[in-house]
Amino acid sequence: MFLKAMVMFYVAISPCICQGEKNIYETDSLDSFIRDYSFKKMVQPRTGTMYNVSLPANFSGIDVSIVRLRSGSFWKRGVNHSFFKMPPRILPWPNVIRFDIVYQNLGNWSSTYFNVPNHTFVAPVVGFSAYYANSSEAENEKISLTVMGDPIQVHFPNVEVQESRNATLKCVRFGNDGLVEFSNTSNRNICFSHSQGHFSIVVPHQERKKTKTRRWKWWVIGFAIGVVALVLLVLIVVIVYKVLKTNMKRKMEKESERSEALGSIWIGVSKMPSGAYIRTEPVLEHSFVP
Ligand SMILES: *[C@@H]1O[C@H](CO)[C@@H](O)[C@H](O)[C@H]1NC(C)=O
Ligand SMILES: *[C@@H]1O[C@H](CO)[C@@H](O)[C@H](O)[C@H]1NC(C)=O
Ligand SMILES: *[C@@H]1O[C@H](CO)[C@@H](O)[C@H](O)[C@H]1NC(C)=O
Ligand SMILES: *[C@@H]1O[C@H](CO)[C@@H](O)[C@H](O)[C@H]1NC(C)=O
Ligand SMILES: *[C@@H]1O[C@H](CO)[C@@H](O)[C@H](O)[C@H]1NC(C)=O
Ligand SMILES: *[C@@H]1O[C@H](CO)[C@@H](O)[C@H](O)[C@H]1NC(C)=O
Ligand SMILES: *[C@@H]1O[C@H](CO)[C@@H](O)[C@H](O)[C@H]1NC(C)=O
Ligand SMILES: *[C@@H]1O[C@H](CO)[C@@H](O)[C@H](O)[C@H]1NC(C)=O
Repeated sequence: MFLKAMVMFYVAISPCICQGEKNIYETDSLDSFIRDYSFKKMVQPRTGTMYNVSLPANFSGIDVSIVRLRSGSFWKRGVNHSFFKMPPRILPWPNVIRFDIVYQNLGNWSSTYFNVPNHTFVAPVVGFSAYYANSSEAENEKISLTVMGDPIQVHFPNVEVQESRNATLKCVRFGNDGLVEFSNTSNRNICFSHSQGHFSIVVPHQERKKTKTRRWKWWVIGFAIGVVALVLLVLIVVIVYKVLKTNMKRKMEKESERSEALGSIWIGVSKMPSGAYIRTEPVLEHSFVP
């Protein structure tokens, strides 16, 4: 029971630990899993028809669809499927008669499989890959698509920009071997590409503002501490001063009592507080006399 809880805790926190380096879930293995699964599900497909593939329940949230295309008509007309507008004049290579395209929308799994350092996704990661159509499992290799005319357009239906309305949106493309390419968005929700892969839209983190607020907070805290310390210091000084004053008063009172006693002995009627003054008076008189 305890062990199970530990394992579940580890599983829950491990994606966070791996953030910034390499994601715990391998994108390549996801791609090949989806590819294999889609090919198994697609039995005798009609060319040109899109098929939705429902993945196993533990991948719930990822949308996958697959379509078989004729290279000739693809070159002549292009296709508009899912989030992708593929214009005419895209050349599949090697030269095959038919090929398959698998589309993915990772939805809420986007940041599980992909992450752009210092950026936040504001759209799901979507992707497409082209494969050989003779789906004899072992032969499900990718084929390349060479764009000879206009670029492929990726249309994101819902770009969610919450905190920073003015933030610069950037298109990002994830290629092979962890390649990450940035480009400008068009109309804030369209990206252009000359290759297949995974795509999304990101906004940069606003690090500077955060550190500014943090610094500002520290200033306030420091100021408060300073004020409290100052008040304490003043209190201490006042208390010490009062104590000293009381002590001094007492001493002076005692001394004056003593000197009064002395004075009364010397001068008799005089009730002057200081004996010293009285004692110096004759000296002054003497100096004035000559
Ligand atoms: C395939 O899935 C998409 C989105 O999940 C949905 O809009 C579409 O109607 C589905 N198509 C079919 C043929 O089931
Ligand atoms: C989901 O289950 C399949 C087997 O049915 C397994 O291969 C895959 O790794 C699992 N995926 C996750 C994310 O747990
Ligand atoms: C795809 O959409 C564009 C513009 O929305 C349109 O011009 C083009 O004819 C469409 N292509 C196909 C094959 O439907
Ligand atoms: C995504 O959402 C589905 C439900 O819509 C949920 O079952 C799944 O666990 C979620 N995946 C992640 C990675 O949060
Ligand atoms: C991310 O931001 C931190 C601090 O703002 C910086 O040190 C780091 O180099 C950045 N990473 C990348 C990959 O730009
Ligand atoms: C599938 O097509 C590729 C290239 O067109 C070819 O090399 C391979 O032998 C084919 N495989 C099968 C099982 O037909
Ligand atoms: C947004 O950016 C524009 C120019 O890029 C600027 O004029 C405007 O003041 C900015 N708005 C906010 C709220 O930052
Ligand atoms: C992207 O946009 C920025 C500012 O909006 C501009 O300076 C830059 O030249 C653009 N890059 C390209 C490749 O269009």
